[in-house]
Amino acid sequence: METLMKTQTTAEVTERDLSEQIKKVTKDSHVRAENTELMLSFQRGQVSLRQYKLLLSSLYKIYQALEEELDRNSDHPGVAPIYFPTELARLDSIKKDLEFFYGQDWREKIAVPVATKRYCHRLRQIGRENPEFLVAHAYTRYLGDLSGGQILGRITQRSIGLKSNEGLSFFGFPGVSSPNLFKQLYRSRMNSVDLTEEQRNGVLEEAVRAFEFNIQVFDDLQKMLSVTETQLQNGSTHSEPVKTLQPSETIIITSSPVLMMVLGLLVALATLTMVFYTL
Ligand code: HEM
Repeated sequence: METLMKTQTTAEVTERDLSEQIKKVTKDSHVRAENTELMLSFQRGQVSLRQYKLLLSSLYKIYQALEEELDRNSDHPGVAPIYFPTELARLDSIKKDLEFFYGQDWREKIAVPVATKRYCHRLRQIGRENPEFLVAHAYTRYLGDLSGGQILGRITQRSIGLKSNEGLSFFGFPGVSSPNLFKQLYRSRMNSVDLTEEQRNGVLEEAVRAFEFNIQVFDDLQKMLSVTETQLQNGSTHSEPVKTLQPSETIIITSSPVLMMVLGLLVALATLTMVFYTL
């Protein structure tokens, strides 16, 4: 693999290269993704265990959809060159991390916001209808994980005070000895995909959309956290508020003002009940 990498990565970079074009069109989106509240918490070394667990739960659903679609389309000419399950697949690592944090019945405990459902729905749709667009999503997630993700792993370990690497498998790529060399190989494979002009434009649009999906997921996760934090401040005694608000796989619309009002009313009602009870 290392020899293969060296020969394939020396190719000259040109403006017509998909890898260059995709980086250029997603530049602004990358800055926006980095500056979401959730990503800023990571960068400041202030990520909480609850934030990390919620993020992992959404990443589980996202990688499940992405990797199932990549597997199903692995012979497709737009997918085969960038299909690296041994080196890149994240699903099993995420499952291990979720089991570490939530226990064996993690599947019943995790919850994801509606933005995650939308992201997964799109992945399944293009897997069926335009498999050549999968490269945009694979690029966004895997190259991101191989870049900033490496630093984020160390920060997360410190922030949530983990003594070992347990719970952090998501950040590790044991099948990739040099992330930089691998990224070069990956880019050269992206550039080898034969695309019509229309398909190329479609892939570029899809990459911007992929970043947008990620930003929406991060924003929704923050909203989920602030709802549970408000609940805690209002006297809830639950030690694991996420579970109590959202059962497994529930689509929740945390941005809905109606839901916020109902939650507020419930908290007020609970407080009143307690007051009457103590009188
Ligand atoms: C804490 C937030 C983040 C930081 C600090 C960060 C940092 C970085 C860094 C340092 C690079 C390497 C740039 C280079 O080699 O030129 C990179 C590349 C990349 N990042 Fe991020 N990143 C963050 C969040 C994200 C997110 C949320 C995504 C997507 C969901 C993402 C997707 C990517 C991609 C696709 C690349 C590869 C760019 C390319 O070489 O074409 N990043 N990031």
